[in-house]
Amino acid sequence: MTLLDHQKLLVKSTVPALTKHGEEITRVFYQRMFAAHPEIAPMFNQDDQKNGEQPKRLAAAILAYAGNLDRLDLLGPAVSRIEHRHVATKVRPEHYPIVGKYLLEAIKEVLGDAATPEILEAWGVAYNELAQIMIGHEAAIYAQQEKEQEQEEEVAAV
Ligand code: HEM
Repeated sequence: MTLLDHQKLLVKSTVPALTKHGEEITRVFYQRMFAAHPEIAPMFNQDDQKNGEQPKRLAAAILAYAGNLDRLDLLGPAVSRIEHRHVATKVRPEHYPIVGKYLLEAIKEVLGDAATPEILEAWGVAYNELAQIMIGHEAAIYAQQEKEQEQEEEVAAV
């Protein structure tokens, strides 16, 4: 499903409130996700969780995305950095629905009554679009790494 114009407007309309509560959203998000999926927690630098650095970065990325739905090219370098960090920490496509579920729940909780079903649906579609873009780029980075590794092994075998 692609993000419709009115859904883009709905997502954008939530940016001010989410900016106000951005870090709270990501804190709620990480707490719940790690409680439900303890296997994911070791992928994250726990010092950065405690000092709030990682929640800040995730909040900033999500808000930058929400505010630039029509100009994703502006986010290119930032997204590329995140994707390389994801590959370094072995993020896989199957992790994305888990993150999406807890992110949406946290958005719902923090926005309260303002989180109408239409807004949550629009956010779900927006998240999935970004997830698909990132999964595609990350697959290319993994493939490139595997190719380089095979070449190194061939050289080592000569
Ligand atoms: C659209 C979805 C996502 C966004 C916008 C996002 C955003 C970010 C950002 C901004 C960073 C920080 C990059 C940096 O250090 O500069 C990051 C790192 C990271 N992300 Fe994501 N992420 C997403 C999905 C996921 C998923 C599905 C996982 C899987 C569990 C994940 C796991 C991680 C990990 C392990 C790190 C490195 C954390 C660390 O260094 O402690 N992310 N992500």
